[in-house]
Amino acid sequence: MKKLNLAVLCSGGGTNLQALIDAVENVELSAEIKIVISNNSNAFALERARKHNISALHLSHKQFATPEEFDQRLLEVLKQNQIDMIVLAGYMKMLSSTIIRAYKNRILNIHPALLPHFGGPGMYGMHVHEAVIKSGVKITGVTVHIVDEVYDHGAIVMQKPVEVKDDDTPETLAERVLKVEHDTYKKAIQLFAEERVEIRDSRAYIQP
Ligand code: GAR
Repeated sequence: MKKLNLAVLCSGGGTNLQALIDAVENVELSAEIKIVISNNSNAFALERARKHNISALHLSHKQFATPEEFDQRLLEVLKQNQIDMIVLAGYMKMLSSTIIRAYKNRILNIHPALLPHFGGPGMYGMHVHEAVIKSGVKITGVTVHIVDEVYDHGAIVMQKPVEVKDDDTPETLAERVLKVEHDTYKKAIQLFAEERVEIRDSRAYIQP
């Protein structure tokens, strides 16, 4: 089976990255993580990559005079590493249209709720779980979707539910959702490695 060359983009702790590293090592995911890129030089995700001999790169808009120069450098790095798919794993920056068009239908994101609910600008990390609890819904979950030019909008590839308990705090809920994220992301990416995903009319169709 084809091995997907992945670039994983992270901003923080990188537990989703770790789950993907483990899945590759355990041969559950037919991929190679060629590079981990973070906009944050202190991201523990970079540390996790180095521990597994994966290239780790700090790349931030702050290092460039214009957003276009950042994009050019990012594209160069992706090309050098022959990247098939970009995987966002807790990456808190919006990618530009230039990048999204260059990797059309080849950028994935994981969101800690059931889109199209609890998504959009400002809805990231703990803010999502706070909003979920405040709304009173009993079910939340995980969404893996294609990244298009609208925030949290692209074709949904996989979703898994997580129960919201009456005594949940944003932290306890986040912890339970994260566990499901770790199991879901590798399975969703594996579908691409198996070439079982077709994106048509803004929907993802999965071959059985
Ligand atoms: C994860 O819960 C991920 O779904 C979320 O940030 C967390 C990163 O955790 N992403 C977003 O909210 C993107 N909108 P991690 O660094 O431990 O993988």
